[in-house]
Amino acid sequence: MEQKEDSFRVTTSDDLEVSTYLEIAKQKAGEQPIAEKVPEVEREAVVVIDFGSQYSMLITRRVRECHVYSEVLPYDIPWQRIASLKPRGFIFSGGPASVCDPGAPLAPAHIYESHLPILGICYGMQVLTHQLGGRVALGTRHEYGHAILHQSAVESPIFADLPPSMPVWMSHGDQIVEMPPGFTTLGYTENSPIAAMGNEHGIIGIQFHPEVAHTPHGKDILKNFLYHICGCSGNWTPGSFIAESVARIRKQVGKGRVICALSGGVDSAVTAALVHRAIGDQLTCIFVNNGLLRQEEAERTINTFQRNLKMNIIDIDATDRFLQRLKGVTEPEMKRRLVGEEFIRVFEDEAAKLGRVDFLAQGTLYPDVIESVTPESSASAKIKTHHNVGGLPTKMTLSLIEPLRYLFKDEVREVGLTLGVPEEMIWRQPFPGPGLSIRIIGEVTREKLELLRAADWIVMNEIKKAKLYRQLWQSFAVLTDTRSVGVMGDFRTYGYLIAIRAVTSEDAMTADWARLPYDLLARISNRIVNEVPEVNRVVYDVSSKPPSTIEWE
Ligand code: XMP
Repeated sequence: MEQKEDSFRVTTSDDLEVSTYLEIAKQKAGEQPIAEKVPEVEREAVVVIDFGSQYSMLITRRVRECHVYSEVLPYDIPWQRIASLKPRGFIFSGGPASVCDPGAPLAPAHIYESHLPILGICYGMQVLTHQLGGRVALGTRHEYGHAILHQSAVESPIFADLPPSMPVWMSHGDQIVEMPPGFTTLGYTENSPIAAMGNEHGIIGIQFHPEVAHTPHGKDILKNFLYHICGCSGNWTPGSFIAESVARIRKQVGKGRVICALSGGVDSAVTAALVHRAIGDQLTCIFVNNGLLRQEEAERTINTFQRNLKMNIIDIDATDRFLQRLKGVTEPEMKRRLVGEEFIRVFEDEAAKLGRVDFLAQGTLYPDVIESVTPESSASAKIKTHHNVGGLPTKMTLSLIEPLRYLFKDEVREVGLTLGVPEEMIWRQPFPGPGLSIRIIGEVTREKLELLRAADWIVMNEIKKAKLYRQLWQSFAVLTDTRSVGVMGDFRTYGYLIAIRAVTSEDAMTADWARLPYDLLARISNRIVNEVPEVNRVVYDVSSKPPSTIEWE
């Protein structure tokens, strides 16, 4: 099977020196715009119909990894929304319900009437069995975990080029006891006589989960469905995404003006680069230096965008305003609130000076969009409020442009690299909107900021030198409000205590403290006590989340 080279997977080497990034960015910025190079191709889409499975989003990701565009939509969404994507096929997700129960979620009739291919996974298989005239029965025992799928004698494109028997991952209670008319068995396991079935119209049901890593041939099965059954060619790539987005943004904006808040993070950087590619100088970026950034962060961001990507940037040093508001404040949530509010004020002040502005570009990503569809559980307690720069100004009446709205983070990174955004920015570890203010325990002052910046710079440098930066979710220094006694030369000292925090994580919901090598910790500690004045002790934080959080405040 053909696989596209310019995939949405990013495989780059370890961090390069900054000068190298800037070179790459320069070269890329000088290239002919991709939007003009890539011929318009029709986007192939396959829609995942969500019946409430925890894996629905994962199915979408796997489909996109096969270079076919995919969105996950709830089973009861209006048909027009589904039809607007011009799907080539559907995948029905798993789900917690039982089709045997009254009121169980089912697929809209329009899907069957479209005569497009369908792949039903687990509950999705039971849904199509039930709706197409077969019979599903409450399972007497649950099948959970590994199983071996044996292909039946009937050949089907869904298992093309795959071994006759293969491990799969099961998680179901109900079972198909009678297939709908016109279906044949395509595979069975020890506990499921009908573990895979299909008809000649490209409707397939599989009882196992191809989207999880425990089904090693799962992606091949999805590819077979997409390429051999839906007839997709796999033309969705960063280049085609950029071309399509550029055309859409140009149409949406016309001759209007757009503003975008740059934070130095990957989402706002890629948003700005993409919008700039589409409309050039009609975009103005606003970079607010709140004085709570890390060493060289403001200069590097400005350099990248102004000099290398040639964007219009308003660069505001609002350090005084922020520090003034934070004066005397020690409570973490208050720090967050003040920094968030002040950001919006500064942003609005600057935007107002621009005269008429029509649009605000924001780096919203697909997981945020999906999360906002599913109402948050009111039972979940608030641990910390998160204020991101780029939060929507409240008083402005601007239309939104959210070009990354349907992308996952790794796809955003690849689009960014294709647009020439430097690797340093693309692979930057997450940094909180309130910045160093929540890494200084107690009151934030200029002196403490200087101290923390110097310590944090050492941590980052040493972690990068050890080639661990990209493996860690975050690594940084915290300035505690503890002072302790030390001895330097023949003198007693009474200095600050710096804590080092380094964690691994998938999504920041949970995190584990990183097992950094002792000699690396020793180097970091030595350098900090020697190079940062007033610090005489360094500790390493060995707590995981939960029960701790990643940040100290
Ligand atoms: P915690 O400390 O809650 O952090 O485990 C989880 C992730 O969120 C980041 N974080 C923030 N990001 N504004 C942000 O934009 C905030 O107020 C904020 N607080 C925490 C934190 O760095 C970690 O990646």
